Amino acid sequence: MDEAIDLNDTRLFTEQRHHEVFAWLRANDPVHWNEPSHGIPGHWAVCRYGDVTAAYADTATFSSVGGSVHGGSYRQGGDSAAGRMLSASDPPYHRLLRRQLRELFGADMTARVAARAARLAGAAFDRALADGGCDFAVDIAPELPAATIMELLGVSRSAAHDLAAVTRRIIGFRDPEFGGGDGERVGLAVAQAEVFEFFAELIADRRACPGEDLVSVLLAARVNGRPLREEDVYYNCLNVAVGGNETTPYTATAGILALAENPGERAALDADPDLVEPAAGEILRWSSANAYTRRIATEDVVLAQRKISRGDSVTLWNVSANRDDAQFPDASRFRVGRTPNRHLSYGSGIHRCIGAVMAQAELTMLLRLMTERRLSVEVAGEPVRLRSNFIQGITSLPVVVNPGRSA
Ligand code: HEM
Repeated sequence: MDEAIDLNDTRLFTEQRHHEVFAWLRANDPVHWNEPSHGIPGHWAVCRYGDVTAAYADTATFSSVGGSVHGGSYRQGGDSAAGRMLSASDPPYHRLLRRQLRELFGADMTARVAARAARLAGAAFDRALADGGCDFAVDIAPELPAATIMELLGVSRSAAHDLAAVTRRIIGFRDPEFGGGDGERVGLAVAQAEVFEFFAELIADRRACPGEDLVSVLLAARVNGRPLREEDVYYNCLNVAVGGNETTPYTATAGILALAENPGERAALDADPDLVEPAAGEILRWSSANAYTRRIATEDVVLAQRKISRGDSVTLWNVSANRDDAQFPDASRFRVGRTPNRHLSYGSGIHRCIGAVMAQAELTMLLRLMTERRLSVEVAGEPVRLRSNFIQGITSLPVVVNPGRSA
């Protein structure tokens, strides 16, 4: 199988053949050299849970400065963001910047985001009930990041949805539906310019009138006593906007699909409210919305007997580690009661998702809403998947929604 493997081929993911490929790689070639293809340079694909966590932990050898997307960042002007944007920085800068953001992503904001998400998702379900159904990926899931953005940035719901529409084009830059394809680089530059335009207004506003939102915190942040450069404020806003918008809704939609495909698991969830927390964890493991993240080797290193050279790109495949039987018994089964469940969907180590607690609160809220209201959500059409090997997303999932499901 090795000859034919090309992880840069997005069809592998849209056609859901990647799980089979990763199972083979974990067994036969766990640190796999992926040849250059599709205009994307070669990279080492790390596939086993143990190797992926080891690489996450060794930030001196595996640097984040090159950014998390291999072979085409979701941001233009990568050089100016390198080392300055939270996800694309190494210690000590990373530690100092992350410390400034910790409180913003703490318990208070999480509670506000979860409450807002409950109202927005509840209203979206009401609309779906009245209509008999909807497209979950389009009509309900986007309310989760909208809630996050509204609270984190202090903006209106329509502004939050506008921003999400642009970040979707940034992440979907290889998908024709979101402006990808032939003119993908141009589309990406235009989308990024639009995000920066969005934040330019907000930055001017918060300079004049500071609050407790992300932009105000970034403007007030001091790293080694110095304020962030203006462009660093922009890049970190972009980081949070993309991180928040392009993961939680895809995870939620994948969860709806998994529950519909595993009616026994949905019944178990309805019967036991205590399963809501582990079920959210299992949905995260199952969906692995952020399929991989990228590091650059800072020195020659041997991993699983493969010699990686200084400067090589190394991709850490969360989606593969999350199905590793060595870590997860019966890994290819979706089980809402799975504990322990140390999935890598939020990454691991110092860059572990800063929005993890928030995302977790939103996903458990969604499950609680469905189980407490006994909503039946049945899949009514083929899921459409984002053409990407970086973000695994379902962009369309028609559903029929009915009240009064029996326990
Ligand atoms: C289900 C939802 C989510 C998933 C699957 C997810 C996934 C991830 C992963 C895998 C990383 C680590 C990247 C790396 O190591 O290179 C990460 C980091 C990050 N995420 Fe999330 N994320 C989610 C939700 C969110 C939310 C809601 C926000 C913000 C509102 C957010 C903002 C960020 C930021 C800013 C980072 C960079 C952290 C750092 O480098 O220290 N994410 N996320």
